[in-house]
Amino acid sequence: MKLTTTLAVGTALSLFASTAFAYDADWKRGRVYYRSVCTSCHVTQPVGTINPSSKTKAEWAAYVKADKHGKGKETVKQYVSKTYRESIKSGNKAAEKFIAVPETELLADIQLFLQRGAKDGEAPASCN
Ligand code: HEC
Repeated sequence: MKLTTTLAVGTALSLFASTAFAYDADWKRGRVYYRSVCTSCHVTQPVGTINPSSKTKAEWAAYVKADKHGKGKETVKQYVSKTYRESIKSGNKAAEKFIAVPETELLADIQLFLQRGAKDGEAPASCN
């Protein structure tokens, strides 16, 4: 009995782990989000457009990992959150379209787009 329970729990846990890590990031969705949500704000600010190709892959990876947007005034995740998408969806098609996407998936998509689009990435990208 005890062994069966342990096995069942073990199987459930490993299933959970494999789903949790099996997400295959979609750089195209990341590109749409970056251009439609991140860039659409940057262009209205003094900072202006921030091209993915302005940083290296390592710099982007460190930036996303540090999660300090505007030198720590906010997090990067905050702009990927459902709460943020909800707050802008009436005037932002991408936010509306991706409203149900889990935050972790969207962040992985953006990260993959930034890796591809980085200065030393496979397809250096601008914002538009
Ligand atoms: C509501 C407006 C807004 C949104 C949305 C936004 N940013 Fe920004 N971003 C700014 C501003 C303003 C700056 C300039 C730094 C500052 O003064 O806070 C900035 C700066 C940056 C910088 C330069 C380094 C830094 O943090 O100062 C990067 C990189 C960046 N943003 C990435 C992103 C990404 C990625 C997203 C989308 C997930 C995003 N931003 C969404 C307003 C925004």
